[in-house]
Amino acid sequence: MIYFDNAATTQQKPRAVLDAVLEAMTHMGNAGRGAHTASLDAARSIYDARTLLAELFHSESPSCIAFTSNATESLNTALKGLLRPGDHAITTVLEHNSVLRPLYELREAGTELTILPCDDKGCLLYDALSDAVRPNTRLIVCTGASNVTGNCTDLARIGAFAREHGLLFVVDAAQLAGIFPVDVQRLHIDVLCFTGHKALLGPQGTGGLYVREGLSIRPLKSGGSGIDSQNTHHPDRMPTALEAGTLNGHGIAGLAAAVRFLLEEGLDAIRARELQLAQEFYLGVRDIPGVTVYGDFSTLARCPIVSFNIGEWDSGSVSDELLTQYGISARSGIHCAPLMHQSLGTLKQGAVRFSFSQFNTHEEVQTGIRAVRELA
Ligand code: ALA
Repeated sequence: MIYFDNAATTQQKPRAVLDAVLEAMTHMGNAGRGAHTASLDAARSIYDARTLLAELFHSESPSCIAFTSNATESLNTALKGLLRPGDHAITTVLEHNSVLRPLYELREAGTELTILPCDDKGCLLYDALSDAVRPNTRLIVCTGASNVTGNCTDLARIGAFAREHGLLFVVDAAQLAGIFPVDVQRLHIDVLCFTGHKALLGPQGTGGLYVREGLSIRPLKSGGSGIDSQNTHHPDRMPTALEAGTLNGHGIAGLAAAVRFLLEEGLDAIRARELQLAQEFYLGVRDIPGVTVYGDFSTLARCPIVSFNIGEWDSGSVSDELLTQYGISARSGIHCAPLMHQSLGTLKQGAVRFSFSQFNTHEEVQTGIRAVRELA
């Protein structure tokens, strides 16, 4: 079996991640819910994860990091907690439904929405930003990299624009985190939403958000916090404000081990290897007659994703052939990114997406190229 669906979830995790989860499941108590060793150890383990993520994202402090179950929960928390009826939000056609659907819900309740377009390669048209700003614009939310083309958005440019216009800047880092370094302070990011199970190499069910110090977000949930329990309101200080209920301590222990692994290996080295595999695949398939590849490959500001089609062949059927004939797992369809596919003209056909990880091999890539050539 060849696994090329790492943008959906990384399948191969460092051994240390598995060990950390097993250790946590054997010994962990409930963090912040007792003064005994198992509970204190759980709190220490979760704090360790916060500290590592704060280091990875250059956060002001570990308490700016709150844990959630995935990027979708983080984005829902940020958007529904920051926007009110009458506010205006700016987003892009590159977005995943985890950004678009909460925004559509908010629009039904009275939030105004502008969606910025992209060019024929799927790259954002930044000049449209200036015209989009209104007196009631509260925030810009965009992805750090398209999960369809792999191309990165220029976060420095949007961050500077947001700051200049006094807007909040919310970033969906689902594809970016663990591949590119993200410095939230340098990029003027107010809220960074991440998931643990993709390039961060942690378990599914882990994720979180960085919230700039001083910014307050209305929580989606309230409930047990382990502190200030006589108060009728959920505590409003971070990170407890956004962490009602028992956290996924077992998963977070695994995520901490994964982030430690990434910091030790270095994102630049990991990304170089992943981009080399993606580039090898791209160069191997781009000139095959009938094959169309989507996205901009003239830049290194991209994630290790290559989406393509073979003629008019339905992407789901190609994906089935890849699996049954070659043992290759790829993702087809529209990748929960309908506006991106609409812009690329692939809403009906979808696209076959190969997404690589550092654990893929040159031999696997060569098998992928051969498979596409034979199917084409
Ligand atoms: N959002 C994930 C993907 O792109 C699941 O496949």
